[in-house]
Amino acid sequence: MKHLIAPSILASDFANLQRDIEMINNSEADWFHIDVMDGVFVPNISFGMPVIAAINKHAKKIMDVHLMIVNPDSFISKFKKVGAAILTVHYEACPHLHRTIQRIKSEGMQAGVSLNPHTPISVLEDIIKDVNVVLLMSVNPGFGGQSFIENTYKKVIQLKDLIQKSGSKAIIEIDGGVNDKTGAKLLAAGADVLVAGSYIFKSNSPIETIKLLKNL
Ligand code: DX5
Ligand code: ZN
Repeated sequence: MKHLIAPSILASDFANLQRDIEMINNSEADWFHIDVMDGVFVPNISFGMPVIAAINKHAKKIMDVHLMIVNPDSFISKFKKVGAAILTVHYEACPHLHRTIQRIKSEGMQAGVSLNPHTPISVLEDIIKDVNVVLLMSVNPGFGGQSFIENTYKKVIQLKDLIQKSGSKAIIEIDGGVNDKTGAKLLAAGADVLVAGSYIFKSNSPIETIKLLKNL
């Protein structure tokens, strides 16, 4: 499969959100990556349902919603209603991960699990066949614009191996500090989806930067 690009809305200009959404619609990007932070699981607050519903009015591509919140189970159907196609929860926030994954799927969404940088791949052994996406954090979640943690390459290789050995169909998404250099190395290690926020939105031509990432 050709790799996918998911620009992170967190780095867009919220005062010009519709303009930035149209830019993504017209670009070679595949997904909208939408970061929800609650100020509890991570030390930052981003945005919630009304903003996602507003994005959904204009977005013409898949909405990939990354929940950095405690107790995501209470909100699964609400995220479906505002347009999430992929809903990713954190392993570290879900004591009953299997149940959470089944609930996401029963709402008709693809289910993702995200791991913090310190969480080993091995914790996924007994859930890997049930998930559609594994989102590896390559920075500590909570903020855009941080530098990439090099240990991620090793985790991508380990995860690819686990997916192949288990017969899982999960795809590998990487989030944090992605640019042309880290992106190329991640793809070589086996990544399928690259999330990029500041590298795209702080560049002179976001649409060209997306093209560059898509053609790595
Ligand atoms: C961080 C978020 C990321 C963030 C990535 O907690 O999950 O999606 O927007 O931003 P960059 O690409 O700037 O590291
Ligand atoms: Zn994210």
